[in-house]
Amino acid sequence: MATRRIGSWEVLISRRPLSTTDLASRYDAVSGKWARTARRFRLNAAYCEPLLASRVVTDLMQVEQRARILDCGVGNGSLSIALASLMKGPADFHAVDTSAEMLVQTKPLMQHSGLSPHLQQANVMSLPYDDQSFDVVMAAHVLEHLPDPQRALAEMVRVLKPGGMVFLCVTRPSLFGALVQLLWRTWAITEQEGIAWLHASKLVDVGYQPVRLGSFAGFASTAFWARRPL
Ligand SMILES: C[S@@+](CC[C@H](N)C(=O)[O-])C[C@H]1O[C@@H](n2cnc3c(N)ncnc32)[C@H](O)[C@@H]1O
Repeated sequence: MATRRIGSWEVLISRRPLSTTDLASRYDAVSGKWARTARRFRLNAAYCEPLLASRVVTDLMQVEQRARILDCGVGNGSLSIALASLMKGPADFHAVDTSAEMLVQTKPLMQHSGLSPHLQQANVMSLPYDDQSFDVVMAAHVLEHLPDPQRALAEMVRVLKPGGMVFLCVTRPSLFGALVQLLWRTWAITEQEGIAWLHASKLVDVGYQPVRLGSFAGFASTAFWARRPL
């Protein structure tokens, strides 16, 4: 958001995010090419490092029953596939996306990686799950699309079990971030903003790490993680 003072006037200029319907149509249109985009930015590998740093895998090893994991705005499933590649124990992967076409592309890709995902077309702002029903709730490159990311985070925390972990990855301010902003009308989120959101949601053990998206984009994103207190 830019603020300009002109005499006794203050003018605020901010980018209007795409509506949920327009955004879903845009992702429907690129869904056939998204696997190539994910490969270009080496998303599977990019997500592994911060997932390891977050210690989410160690946490999941303590879960007594089958772990329940939710990926919000799953796209082609890169984040779920990255997490599954690091895990040993059994887990149920659930995922939502507003783009129906993206979900059609995603199922075989996730199955090819050995997952049997439960996919639903749904909005992260209103998740079709019970309170406190997941051990891990995550979203990569989704919150920066939304007009009210903190409300989306509150909804993710609602479905998270006490002691469970939220894992986020968002675009940070950078040259590449500016290009993404122009193309997709997203926000670029600073480390301070991300940390403030997690604290405002009353989460604890907050951590973060820059994420390298292949050699082309460089450190264009930040991963954040935190736990819901017991
Ligand atoms: C940049 S892609 C990221 C996909 C995947 N998480 C990844 O990291 O590769 C954003 C995804 O979020 C989905 N999305 C956007 N807004 C959403 C919302 N409000 N609820 C659920 N999914 C949403 C889009 O359809 C798209 O598949």
